[in-house]
Amino acid sequence: MGEEQKRMLEISILRYDPHIKECKPHIETYEVAESPGMTLYIALNEIRKHQDASLKFDFVCRAGICGSCAMVINGRPGLACRTLTSKMGPQISLAPLPVFELIGDLSVNSGNWMRGLNERLETWIHDKEEKDFTRLEERMEPELAEEIYELDRCIECGCCVAGCGTIQMREDFVGAVGLNKIARYRLDPRDKRSDAEYYELVGDEDGVFGCMTLLGCEDVCPKSLPLQSKIAYLRRKMAEIGWS
Ligand code: SF4
Ligand code: F3S
Ligand code: FES
Repeated sequence: MGEEQKRMLEISILRYDPHIKECKPHIETYEVAESPGMTLYIALNEIRKHQDASLKFDFVCRAGICGSCAMVINGRPGLACRTLTSKMGPQISLAPLPVFELIGDLSVNSGNWMRGLNERLETWIHDKEEKDFTRLEERMEPELAEEIYELDRCIECGCCVAGCGTIQMREDFVGAVGLNKIARYRLDPRDKRSDAEYYELVGDEDGVFGCMTLLGCEDVCPKSLPLQSKIAYLRRKMAEIGWS
């Protein structure tokens, strides 16, 4: 395909650096010539390399694994490195994920939020017995291992948090990401916490009862995790033991 046939993209970006006193939020629009297989991540790199070196955005893996390139793409949270420009119109708008601390432009500190969540929900195996390291690992049924693995695919990108209306009203809401983690540990027979101990963590309005079934989380999850059914599962289990 000749140069002249390349489609021109108009990429409008919400720019703001909260660390610069004179800086005010504003939109800047850049023109980028689309190349075959171009992702938004590639387009942003083109802008930073050839037009504006001050543009801030995050990435690590470029393969949908690290979760750091999440941003609002045409009004919807998603991963820049997994979004092909060929699937979009020529006008594209980008903004940082809401909820998380803004570092600047498209870069947010979701890592800090996720660290706090993991500490709060104690997202690690709680084995109350003395560990015998000479013992072979216990066998797990492949179906169960598969089910746990499915939930472990969360990359902590924050899209589900940014796409949830509840979190705008309840800043301590653990979001679908947090509820998914509790569902994952509850499934794991190596975690010896009791039902009451799990539900102590999420059995309130900042947890399961804060979710208003708005469904945005599952719609935007780039890993297509079954968030809805896991939230429903936790609700059901709580009802079974009469938790209120
Ligand atoms: Fe991202 Fe999905 Fe994990 Fe939410 S549940 S943080 S959207 S991967
Ligand atoms: Fe939010 Fe998902 Fe519940 S969008 S309200 S966590 S169903
Ligand atoms: Fe890692 Fe996009 S750069 S998910």
